[in-house]
Amino acid sequence: MATVLTLAGDGIGPEIMAQAINVLKRVNETFDLGLTLEEGLIGGVAIDATGEPLPEETLTRARAADAVLLGAVGGPKWDAIERSKRPERGLLKIRSALGLFANLRVAKLYPQLANASSIKPEIIKGLDLLIVRELTGGIYFGEPRGIRTLENGEQQGYNTMVYSTSEIERIGKVAFELAQTRTAASGNPARVCSVDKANVLEVTELWKQTITKMQQADYSDVALSHMYADNACMQLIRDPKQFDVMVTGNMFGDILSDEAAMLTGSIGMLPSASLDEAGKGMYEPCHGSAPDIAGQDKANPLATILSVAMMLRYTFKQEAAAQAIEQAVSDVLDDGLRTPDILDKTEAGLTQVGCQQMGEAVLAKL
Ligand code: NAI
Ligand code: MG
Repeated sequence: MATVLTLAGDGIGPEIMAQAINVLKRVNETFDLGLTLEEGLIGGVAIDATGEPLPEETLTRARAADAVLLGAVGGPKWDAIERSKRPERGLLKIRSALGLFANLRVAKLYPQLANASSIKPEIIKGLDLLIVRELTGGIYFGEPRGIRTLENGEQQGYNTMVYSTSEIERIGKVAFELAQTRTAASGNPARVCSVDKANVLEVTELWKQTITKMQQADYSDVALSHMYADNACMQLIRDPKQFDVMVTGNMFGDILSDEAAMLTGSIGMLPSASLDEAGKGMYEPCHGSAPDIAGQDKANPLATILSVAMMLRYTFKQEAAAQAIEQAVSDVLDDGLRTPDILDKTEAGLTQVGCQQMGEAVLAKL
C-alpha cells in the first residue's frame, strides 16, 4: 500500500492543504488508488513544536513515504531566527535529503484566465510548456563557496558552478522521456530545448555536448534545440509557444521557471513536482506561505490541488485520476468561480469565492 505524507507548513499552507487533501481523498476512493495519507510537520510550525525546521521524524517518514505533498513554509514570525535554522532551510534540506534532482514546473494557461496575464492573450493562448530544472547541483551547491578577505583587505564572494556528465544525463533523461510522454498525449511533435550559456561557461559547454550525444544515441524521435539562457528569457516573453519541454541547470532553471510561471497570470494556479531517480517525489505549489492573506480564507487552493494531479501522474502513474482533477479545476473556472488573485473585476459573470468554497467546488465537480 502506498503512502502520501502531507506537510501543510505555515501561513496559507494549512488552508490550501485542507482543500487538496479533500480532493486527494475523493479520487483515492473513486479511482480505488489504495493510498494512505499521513500528516507531518515542517517549517515554522515544526520549529515551534520541536525547535527544528525539518525534524528527524519528518525526514524519516518522508523517506518511507512514496510521495510528499507540501503546502508552504515561512513567515515573519520566524524571520528573526538565524538563517541556518529558518523554516525555508527545512525545505532545502528535505529536497536534497530525498535526492529530488528533477524539478518540473508546468506553465499552462487555462483559457478562462487569458486576461489574468500581463502578456497579450494571443501570445499565450494555448500555452502549455514544461520546464525541467536540475535541482540538486550546479552553482547553488558547488564547492568552494564563501566570502573571503583578500590580501589587500577587500572582500570577495565566490561560488562554483559544477556539473558532471552523470548529473547532466539523469536530468536529460527526464526531459527527453517527458517530451515523449507529452507527445503521446497531445499528438504534437516531441521537442526539447536545452538552455545553457555555452558561449562563456565551460560547464555548460559540457552540458550542451552531453545532451546532444544523448539525443543522437537514444532520443532521435525528439527534436532537440539549444538556446543561450539570456535569449531564452527573451523568447519566453516574445513567443512562449515555440517551446514544449525546456531543460536546464539549477540557476537558469530557477529564473526561467519563475518567468514562465508568470506568463499564466497567477502564482496561485501553478503546481510543481520534484522527483528522485525512482520517480518518488515531492509535490508543492510554486508559491510561498503568503502571510499577507493567511487565515483569511482568501488563498487560491488550485496550485496545491493541481500538485495532487501531478503526484498522481508522475509518482503513481494514475493518468485518469490526474486528468479528472485537472478537468474539475477547468470546470470550476468555466463556472466563473474565482479566488481574489484570479478575479478580473472587468469581466462579467464571475463569482468571487474563498479558499474553502473553491476547494468544495472542485470536489463537487469530481
Ligand atoms: P508568496 O508566494 O508567499 O507571496 C507572494 C504574493 O503572492 C503575495 O501577495 C501573496 O498573497 C500571493 N499569493 C501567494 N500564493 C497565493 C495563493 N495561493 N493565492 C493567492 N495569492 C497568493 O511569496 P513571498 O511573499 O515572497 O514569501 C512569503 C513567505 O513564503 C516567506 O517567508 C518566504 O520565505 C516563503 N516562501 C516559501 C516558499 C515555499 O514554501 N515553497 C516559496 C516562496 C516563498
Ligand atoms: Mg525561484
